[in-house]
Amino acid sequence: MTAVGIDALEIWTGKLKLDLPGTFAPQKGEDPEKYTKGLGLNASSFPDAHEDIVTMGANAAKRLMERKGLAPDDIGRIDVATESAFDNSKPVSTYIAGCLEQVYDGDFHHANKGERKFACIAGTQSLDDAYNWIKAGRNRDRAALVIATDTALYARGDPGEATQGAGAVAMLVDEDPDLVELSTEQGYGSADETDFLKPNQQFPSVDGKRSMQVYLARMREAVEDFESISDPTHPEDFAYIPFHTPFPGMVRKAGLLGYRHMIRNTPIEESLAEEIGLQPREDDYADREAYEEAIREHMDELKSTDEYREWYGEVIEPTLAISREVGNWYTGSVHIARAAALKSAAESGRDLAGERLLVGSYGSGAQAEIHAETVADDWAEEIDELNVDEQIDERYDLSFAEYEKVHDRHNHDKTIDIEDFTVPEEEFVFTGWGRMNERTYEYVE
Ligand code: CAA
Repeated sequence: MTAVGIDALEIWTGKLKLDLPGTFAPQKGEDPEKYTKGLGLNASSFPDAHEDIVTMGANAAKRLMERKGLAPDDIGRIDVATESAFDNSKPVSTYIAGCLEQVYDGDFHHANKGERKFACIAGTQSLDDAYNWIKAGRNRDRAALVIATDTALYARGDPGEATQGAGAVAMLVDEDPDLVELSTEQGYGSADETDFLKPNQQFPSVDGKRSMQVYLARMREAVEDFESISDPTHPEDFAYIPFHTPFPGMVRKAGLLGYRHMIRNTPIEESLAEEIGLQPREDDYADREAYEEAIREHMDELKSTDEYREWYGEVIEPTLAISREVGNWYTGSVHIARAAALKSAAESGRDLAGERLLVGSYGSGAQAEIHAETVADDWAEEIDELNVDEQIDERYDLSFAEYEKVHDRHNHDKTIDIEDFTVPEEEFVFTGWGRMNERTYEYVE
């Protein structure tokens, strides 16, 4: 059977940075460690005045196409996943294709374009769509361009303001991929939830605490669904487990729950029993409340064991490195988690070819998806090409007053003109509005 998966990826971060412990926390009168230790974030990325979801997506896609030596004719499909769209009819993929056509000979007139919406999980759903399209043999030897692009902004003063971010991930999905092959097996956990939504509004209505519970509940369902069609998951089976990362503290909770689930009825649970006892079983408790209390106590003990800490340090922690510096990228978030993990392996000279990842995607509203990936032979060459560290280091460091202006600049209900903080160079920029109120773009040499 032909292997299908991600052949290569590129990342584009918004070019501005808000230092959370240094700049944001003092203004909010909060302890900087709430950000660095509690949420697990050092900084958020923001789009400069000339950036938006189209420029970030197009810039990531252009880097990807250039690096892989691709022409428009090589692409049969452009899918954009976003929850920051500004047009309810014309998809962002058409704007991005229009940008790319400014700099390439040829066009994307025979490429199928669309826009995927299901909160943050839409990026993974777009990968799935591309995978299915290729597996069905409808691709005519062409690859798919999947772009996850978002400006994750919250209303000022909302608790979510601490977890903002902006950036894009462009992925090339193809046969015989160089980076990772996707598993046919998938597990879903999906339910009608009202934890985070944007009913025709730019900034989300969020029930933050509930959204965290819903994330964990749907993720658990997805793992169980995945296991119903594959082997039970085991901590030693996966080199890394990249999760959707709204902020690293969320993944800390998901990792612990996942580990508890994976070790149940295994020799690992037995060996830990001497130190912390076996996991509570619901049948042994008179009511649900007593059982949940026992589980909470057990998890507190589990997270302090050497076995768990070592596993978390190896399998989960490396997935969080990019996210800590850029915040939540919504649809791109799980894809920067995968990139961070592979980057960490490449930097330490680890040979990952043939090893497996378990990928946990999530979108509010709500749905989780679990699938596995097998690392391909040429993964390290692909990952070595990323320049995300340079991009992160080169961001303009905003003062709090500048941050407020940038937030207003990207607020659709305000018309604020501000000067660019960075000088655009060899990139697409937003130039204004056209005759039908469409957004317009040009490439700056
Ligand atoms: N030192 C160390 N840790 C500290 C601290 C300090 N001084 N002060 C606080 N903390 C810890 C807290 O104990 C807490 O950690 P635990 O949950 O492990 O106890 C953490 O820092 C955050 O503190 P709070 O809970 O007090 O923070 P908050 O109430 O201001 O808001 C939030 C947190 C609810 C996540 C908020 O940021 C929010 O609403 N975010 C947006 C919603 C979101 O991201 N939800 C995630 C799941 S939904 C999803 O994944 C989809 C998506 O992308 C949005």
